[in-house]
Amino acid sequence: MSICFDESRGTVHLTNGRISYVMQLLDGRYLLHRYFGPALRRWRGTGVPQPAKRSYTTEYGDTHLYFDALPWEFPVAGRGDYRRPAFSVTGPSGAPVSELLFQSWRVLDKKPGSDTLPVTFAAPGESETLAVDCVDAVSGAALTLYYTIFADADVIARRQRVTNPGTRPLCLTNLQSVSLQLPAGSYDLLTLYGCHAREAQQSRAPLHQGAQAVGSRYGSTSPRHQPFWAVLDPAATETAGTVYGCMLVYSGNFNAVVEQDAFGAVRAQMGLGDETFSWTLAPGETFETPEALLTYSGQGFNGMSHNFHTVLRRHLLSPRWQGVPRPVLFNSWEGMYYDVSLEKIETQARLAKELGMELFVLDDGWFRKGNDSRSSMGDWTCNTAKLPGGIEAAADLVHGLGLKFGLWFEPEAVSRDSDLYRAHPDWILQVPGLEPREGRHEYLLDLGRAEVRRYLLDVLHRYLGTGKIDYIKWDMNRPLTDAASAALPAHRQGEVAHRYILGLYEILREITQSYPQVLFEGCSSGGARLDAGMLAYFAQNWTSDNTDARDRTDIQAGFSLLYPPEVLGAHVSITPNHQTGRTTPLETRFAVARLFNLGYELDLTRCTPEERAAIAAQVATAKAQQDWLMQGTFWRHPVTRPGDRMTSVVSADQSRCLAVIFRTLYDPLGEQAAFQFCGLDPAREYRDTATGEIYGGDELMEAGLTLPPCKQDFAAYSVLLCAEEETDYGHSTADQ
Ligand code: GLA
Repeated sequence: MSICFDESRGTVHLTNGRISYVMQLLDGRYLLHRYFGPALRRWRGTGVPQPAKRSYTTEYGDTHLYFDALPWEFPVAGRGDYRRPAFSVTGPSGAPVSELLFQSWRVLDKKPGSDTLPVTFAAPGESETLAVDCVDAVSGAALTLYYTIFADADVIARRQRVTNPGTRPLCLTNLQSVSLQLPAGSYDLLTLYGCHAREAQQSRAPLHQGAQAVGSRYGSTSPRHQPFWAVLDPAATETAGTVYGCMLVYSGNFNAVVEQDAFGAVRAQMGLGDETFSWTLAPGETFETPEALLTYSGQGFNGMSHNFHTVLRRHLLSPRWQGVPRPVLFNSWEGMYYDVSLEKIETQARLAKELGMELFVLDDGWFRKGNDSRSSMGDWTCNTAKLPGGIEAAADLVHGLGLKFGLWFEPEAVSRDSDLYRAHPDWILQVPGLEPREGRHEYLLDLGRAEVRRYLLDVLHRYLGTGKIDYIKWDMNRPLTDAASAALPAHRQGEVAHRYILGLYEILREITQSYPQVLFEGCSSGGARLDAGMLAYFAQNWTSDNTDARDRTDIQAGFSLLYPPEVLGAHVSITPNHQTGRTTPLETRFAVARLFNLGYELDLTRCTPEERAAIAAQVATAKAQQDWLMQGTFWRHPVTRPGDRMTSVVSADQSRCLAVIFRTLYDPLGEQAAFQFCGLDPAREYRDTATGEIYGGDELMEAGLTLPPCKQDFAAYSVLLCAEEETDYGHSTADQ
């Protein structure tokens, strides 16, 4: 790992021995992007396009270099580059023009942290950080660009800080976390889109002239688009080809724009800044962008995912939960909905315990006046008509049965029918004179206000301070509207949505640091706010309210592009499925969930004795395999037949592999497909623990494995492979 300067060429070269990132100064003034890709020993500019004469443009001095074709590292507007700028600020002149001039670059002793935003961290020796100081000659803003390269992950972490060194305010309207310049060529663009119950669907299409954008104006990330893009070789597959990927460590409004210019070059950006955003920077103040994680993979999408998983697992997830198995949980929602009672809790918890589960989660309902979403949000007072003795009694009951106790909250929301709203109607996001919009019968609290944050922290401390709560499910069930704050002056209203997220992070930081033993699960109507920002606080996340096994194969594959499987909650629920009405075998529901963060969410009294026995075997198997599964390498496998899906986890030492093959429809006449494994050691022998057969890793990867015939739709097969010399691999009845 090194950051090397070549003064004669004006370059800086960051490399970890596997990837390189190169920038070059033009006449010591302007910063250009030169290279991002597989590691180079040195960069001499052999691939830089030769200057050629062009018209209807503006040239750099007496050269054939044109401002609208230069590969700007951090582009600005108004001085001859007409593509999307990465930085838009107006100063005392009011001119929408910037002239970003290089000042200096320096290697920092350690990666800088942040007091306000979640950012990746690294111990000494695990990363190196370059800071590049620039100044905008028009507004006077001082901008520092940060680049961190990690020893163990092929990722460059990028962020910016802008400071106002002047005496008059600056107005910031666009500040990207990253702007990547790629050479002219043909590319595809991959993004993840969705909606409630159908999150993280993959959209792949050829990149074309002009800007293609995804983003969020929901105030939170939302299920519409993940804060992610991948620009790739059109021939790239799951296992091969060039992929440049980028995700944002942020949970609010964002912009992700990929623009192909007239000459075929590509500018790909991610960050803050659209019509919902503006920020006044008073003299002496600093603004920092969220962090973006940029990766290069030469091994297709799996390579990109492995890079992302590594950086998130080791440099973003709380060290408290890194590599630590999460409890197999039982969640009350689909089994009880709002209609909770101590009797039901006792019945379900007793059964959950008998079946080997470890955590009982009391979901929504415990504080509501009635059995719907219309009341009581914000007060967080237990309804003792439903739960005599309150939450403490419920916790004692569950603990008495030998399970951990978890509780659902939606702290950011408030019901119109609540004491909190009656006492503090001005605490919600609202525009004076307009009836605020409700979402799921809720308003949202203005988390930018210190007194609101204090109120919520007091509520949470009151519950968590009892020491009886082992887990919190932190939900958020509506997008922001009326993003205006009674606490801010008119010229600062464009800051409200970002301040909301900063306020949320402040609460999460205090509460997760105060209760390190408590496991927090993030949720937002399923996976509507599942992002890397939340991962810094939530070691697990509810992936989707859609627990249908078939739909889950798509949703989980989408999220797995970015996030490691152990942070993605996957529950076995009842059939017919409550969201889709579909009936799938219990074995399939388990198989589709078992590589992820496993839980059960159903009325266990409705299961037959045989089903309960099967669940007990599943839970035992999952617990035995959890240690190596959650530290293993996750693969999505290419398959030949539409409707088939294969995923696997290979243990870090390649001695074990658990593959799950899902088949949507049984095809009696189709050719039997062979499923190729990934990531095994080609030189080792592996035993298929179900059949006892021994196969070479090379054959399993190259020729694949066919499955025994099974006349069933929605069938899923689990194949557990174990290297020959291994004996203790967490094998149990669920895998026979
Ligand atoms: C959201 C969550 C569900 C459940 C309900 C409770 O929809 O995604 O899992 O917690 O809220 O109201």
